[in-house]
Order: sequence, then C-alpha cells, then structure tokens
Amino acid sequence: ALDISKLRDQSGYITLDPGFKNTGSTKSAITFLDGEKGILQYRGYAIEDLAEKSTFLEVAYLLIYGDLPSKDVLEKFRADIRAQMMIHEDMKNFFTGFPSKSHPMGQLSCLVGVLSSFYPESLNPNQTEEEENKTIINLLAKMPTIVSWIQKKSLGHPVVYPKNNFGYIENFLNMIFGEVNQEKTFDPLIIDAMHKLLILHADHEQNCSTSTVRMVGSSNANMYASISAGINALWGPLHGGANQAVIEMLEAIKADGGDADKYLAKAKDKNDPFRLMGFGHRVYKNFDPRAKIIKKACDDVLEKLGVNDPVLDIAKRLEEAALNDQYFIDRKLYPNVDFYSGIIYRALGFNSDMFTVLFALGRLPGWIAQWKEMRDNKEPIGRPRQVYIGETLRPYVPISER
Ligand code: ACO
Repeated sequence: ALDISKLRDQSGYITLDPGFKNTGSTKSAITFLDGEKGILQYRGYAIEDLAEKSTFLEVAYLLIYGDLPSKDVLEKFRADIRAQMMIHEDMKNFFTGFPSKSHPMGQLSCLVGVLSSFYPESLNPNQTEEEENKTIINLLAKMPTIVSWIQKKSLGHPVVYPKNNFGYIENFLNMIFGEVNQEKTFDPLIIDAMHKLLILHADHEQNCSTSTVRMVGSSNANMYASISAGINALWGPLHGGANQAVIEMLEAIKADGGDADKYLAKAKDKNDPFRLMGFGHRVYKNFDPRAKIIKKACDDVLEKLGVNDPVLDIAKRLEEAALNDQYFIDRKLYPNVDFYSGIIYRALGFNSDMFTVLFALGRLPGWIAQWKEMRDNKEPIGRPRQVYIGETLRPYVPISER
C-alpha cells in the first residue's frame, strides 16, 4: 500500500499554505470555534455562559485542566495563586534597566522569560507534574504583579505589593491604580467587566501567539520561554496590538477634524494602506461572539463612569457607518473584540500602550493550556517546510572578480 507520509518525506511533496489559512497544526481539545456561525466554546462551555457566570481564575482552571473546578478545588487554586503573587525583589534590577519609554510589551516578554532564571527547575523538559503545576501557578500569580510594576515604572511611582486578602482582579487593579498605604476599592461593575475582558481573551485556538507558544515549546523550551515568545507574537498590530492601534487610530481621526467617513473611504481605497483597526478577523466571517458580549460591558462601564469622550463618539460613528457600508458587508468585516476592549481600558484609565499587556494577561491561561496539551500529547518539534524559489547552483566568484 502507498504510505503517503513516506512519499512526502522522500519525494518532496509539500503543501504550500501561506499564513496557514487551511493547515491544521494539531488536534486540540481546548477551544472550539466556528467562524461562520460565530460560535466560541472553551472545553465545551459556551463563551456567553462563561463570560456571564464564571470568574477569570475559574475559566483559567477549566482551560488548563479540562473541567470546571469544584468549590474546594477552586478555593485551593486561588489560594495557591494568591500566595505566589510576590515577585523576587531582584527582579527590580531589570525594571531599573529599562528606559522609561520602553514599550510595556517588550518589558513583559523580557520579564516573563527572566522568571525562568529564578525557577531553573522549570528548564527540565522531564519535570514532574508537581513542578509543572508550580510553573503554572507562578505564571498566573506573577504576571499581574509584573504588569503593575511596568505601569508604576512608566509613571515613576513606587510599586504596590499584592495583598493577601484581595481577590485576583481586585489585587491587580489595586496594584495598578492604588498607592502605597492607600488601597483602592472598585465598583463591582468594573471588576465584573475586567473578569469578562480577561475571560473573552483567554483562548482562541491556534492563533498567531498560541501557535508560537506551541512551536517554541515543541523544541522542549521551558514554559516561561515559550510564553515570552507568545507575548512577542501578540505584540504585532495585526494581532493583540490591534487594541492599542484602535485607540491611536481614533485619536488620529479626532486630531484630523473627527471626520469618520473620510477614514472609511481611506479604508476602502486599495491604493491606500490604511485599514480600519479593530475591524475584520481571520476566522470570524459573520460576527465575533466576543465583540457582542464586550460591547454590552463597554456600554455599561461607560455609563457607570459617566465618560464623555469625543474619541468614543468617533468610535460609535465608525461602527455604525461600517456596518451599513457595502464594502464592509461584502467582505464580512465586523468590529472584533479589540475594537471595544481598548475603549473600556481607556475609560478605566489605562494608557493605550498597556492595552496589549492586558490582552496578554487574559490570554495567559490559554497559552499555558496549549503548551501543556502539546507536551502531554508528546507532539513532535514544529518544523514547517518551504518551496524554494531562489537561485540554482552557481559557481563561487572570488571577491576580486565581483
Ligand atoms: N479595513 C479595511 N479593509 C479590510 C480590513 C480592515 N480592517 N480587514 C480586511 N480588509 C479587506 C482586505 O483589504 C481584503 O479586501 P480585498 O478582498 O478587496 O482585497 C479583504 O478585506 C480580506 O482581508 P484579508 O487581509 O485577506 O483578511 P485576513 O483574514 O487575512 O486578515 C485581519 C484578518 C488581519 C484581522 C484583517 O482584517 C485586519 O488587518 N484587520 C485590522 C487589524 C485588526 O483589527 N486585528 C485584530 C484581529 S483580532 C485579534 O487579534 C484578537
């Protein structure tokens, strides 16, 4: 019988699929999505149910370990995380080294990679389950603290340490917006919106950053290094960087007189490289189910905070105009989750260069779950092929004759 795998290996048959639009890289039991129908499920649970009824750490547990935790298991998971939120004081040395204007994503990828230096046992590809769980807890616990230190550094303010009596989101918001010896409390609606935002971003099957995490991990690189690579992949404006790009685009439109239609026309002009940031998605070709949920949370937060921001008026006009424009209808371009997430984060008081870092905080459990699945399945090292189109063999010309 014909063995196709051997044929491919030996005779040079290669599937060419730039951008991997139709190439499956793995079998996965974590996230199901149907881009045509706008369905997203984590481990079989509808994203709508999880966003409405769950908390971020509950969803993190679900993604990583496969089932929703019992009350006791969740309590232990939360307590383990709370106990590890402090980061080593020596990490402060790294913060001191960054120029004050360094982009938070560059700092985050570096600092997450650096965690491996403090936990060298994570470098062992044959680590025990217990050791692997320690890394998982460490990442979930220390990332919010690292993110808050990045924020405080950008302001030149002293860092705020995590508190043992605070929940995960409360702790994070207090470390970001609170001050030393001055705890801050937040409206439950704001805390709920933060849970929702992080849950909606928690996994999205084999997207660019997640594929990166799996690819790097497939060489037996440790979890910190793999996730640090994922953070870099997320940084790009065509992926996680879109939420920052949305606000910057809206600000540019405002500075240019606030004419949304003019920018709509630019987005449609094929001679103009401008694209409407926050519109379109590689897999959702009818609507982004996450955008539906977050749009509601966005409206609630803006109303609660009584925000009156001209940039948000421009966002509303763009959204309406694009949804009724034939160019966008024909190409099935709808606002994605990042059109709204940046708007909420801005209303909460985050600088736009922190938005993608917040996306990373949400995506972390998904990256961990995908890394773990790849290892548990003993997947081979990732190594795509290519179709060579360069020169054929030519004689070497000595430098004196060139
Ligand atoms: N504005 C204007 N036109 C667009 C946009 C946009 N935002 N997005 C796609 N198009 C057009 C393209 O020009 C193309 O038109 P054509 O068929 O006439 O040539 C058509 O729609 C299809 O676009 P592709 O680039 O082929 O779609 P692809 O699936 O490769 O790209 C992507 C998806 C990268 C998200 C794209 O829509 C985009 O650049 N959007 C803006 C950036 C953004 O919001 N990214 C966030 C993604 S969500 C996330 O990471 C969580």
